[in-house]
Amino acid sequence: MGSKMNLTDAVTFLLVVLLATASRAQGTDFNVKHTGAKANGKSDDSQAILSSWKQACQSPGPSTVVIPKGTYLAGSLQFQGPCRSKSIDFQVQGTIKAPADPSQIKTDSWVLFQNVDGLSVSGGGTFDGQGAVAWSQNDCAKTGKCNSLPINLAFTSLTNSKIQDITSLDSKLFHMNIINCNNVTFKGITITAPETSLNTDGIHIGRSTGVTISGANIKTGDDCVSLGDGAQQIHIEGVTCGPGHGISIGSLGKYQNEEPVIGVTARNCTLTNTMNGIRVKTWPASPSGVASDLHFEDFTMNNVSTPILIDQQYCPYNQCQQKIPSKVKISKVSFKNIRGTTATAMAVRLVCSRGVPCQGVDVGDINLKYTGKNGSATSECSNVKPTTSGQLFPKICAESS
Ligand SMILES: *[C@@H]1O[C@H](CO)[C@@H](O)[C@H](O)[C@H]1NC(C)=O
Ligand SMILES: *[C@@H]1O[C@H](CO)[C@@H](O)[C@H](O)[C@H]1NC(C)=O
Ligand SMILES: *[C@@H]1O[C@H](CO)[C@@H](O)[C@H](O)[C@H]1NC(C)=O
Ligand SMILES: *[C@@H]1O[C@H](CO)[C@@H](O)[C@H](O)[C@H]1NC(C)=O
Repeated sequence: MGSKMNLTDAVTFLLVVLLATASRAQGTDFNVKHTGAKANGKSDDSQAILSSWKQACQSPGPSTVVIPKGTYLAGSLQFQGPCRSKSIDFQVQGTIKAPADPSQIKTDSWVLFQNVDGLSVSGGGTFDGQGAVAWSQNDCAKTGKCNSLPINLAFTSLTNSKIQDITSLDSKLFHMNIINCNNVTFKGITITAPETSLNTDGIHIGRSTGVTISGANIKTGDDCVSLGDGAQQIHIEGVTCGPGHGISIGSLGKYQNEEPVIGVTARNCTLTNTMNGIRVKTWPASPSGVASDLHFEDFTMNNVSTPILIDQQYCPYNQCQQKIPSKVKISKVSFKNIRGTTATAMAVRLVCSRGVPCQGVDVGDINLKYTGKNGSATSECSNVKPTTSGQLFPKICAESS
């Protein structure tokens, strides 16, 4: 016969179990105010924020860095792993502001999260890059060197992580750069910068596998989402974009030894007043490369200049040998259910490489109306023979070469 618990013992036991469960779920909090952050928007809070990160990262159990509401001025913030536990939350409720003068940030990115497994960044807060001074100093178009300014938020070598409900504001260069990540989800992201801000790409993903963007509202001066070489198994949905340059794959083929882009699906996105809608761009005179299994469906285009574009003669600033064809092979691409309005008559351009023509391009259910006075929407194709289905307006490959 075992001993019976009395009522008080049972209640105490239950409480202990509940408390243990709650503390396991929440982990240990490291509040930046406890490590000396002033949150007055003037004094430099970098050391306080970094010190909370270090404590959280060295903590054996689940831990949370808490940045309460308020404005924190901070220089370069490099949050490095690996951390001891596989559950580290970065809760930013306030606004973190970068110094406006770009020369005060000596790292490639202002804020970096690197080498962390099981990171969660959330909290509804803002990373304000204060980019206006940097934009006026940007001479990328003249020099072709476009990486001298810091990226707002870099996510490098993260695994099994989730970034949600945060805002990137007025970045000096790209807003978010995702490199060498595996299984990372971005959800409820807000990105804002003026249409005229140079090279402020929204979310760039390169050399990463299994990245999902689910719900993002992006207004910026360059591509809203762009995928670089080595982007594989990428899922994009519920993105609203504009102003901006649209959703891009590429540019590819500028460098030697680029990795293939394989397995991209983008669906249910709305683009408004953007330069392009969906674009795949590769440089002429390129080394060989691969972009395959790219699928776009259920897009709404509102006054987009070129809603659908494959451009294998991409050559900004005229820095290439236009006459030599691109050797990036584009295959298995579909555009399905793309509707709305186009700001130029040339709504669909599929300009593939003469050297390696596109293969397996499938276009179905397109309804794009030209809103201007220069005739009606039309399309152009070279070095591609798409298969088509459903309603097609404009007719696909109205002009071919
Ligand atoms: C991917 O990451 C999430 C955390 O964001 C995790 O719950 C999930 O188990 C991971 N998937 C795999 C296949 O490891
Ligand atoms: C499509 O995306 C919008 C956000 O632009 C979202 O509100 C809506 O729920 C999504 N619909 C589906 C069917 O996923
Ligand atoms: C449509 O786009 C064009 C070109 O980007 C722009 O000049 C025009 O103002 C836009 N129209 C509306 C109604 O937004
Ligand atoms: C009118 O559209 C054609 C393509 O259909 C284009 O070549 C031409 O430049 C456009 N003209 C103007 C004034 O936009």
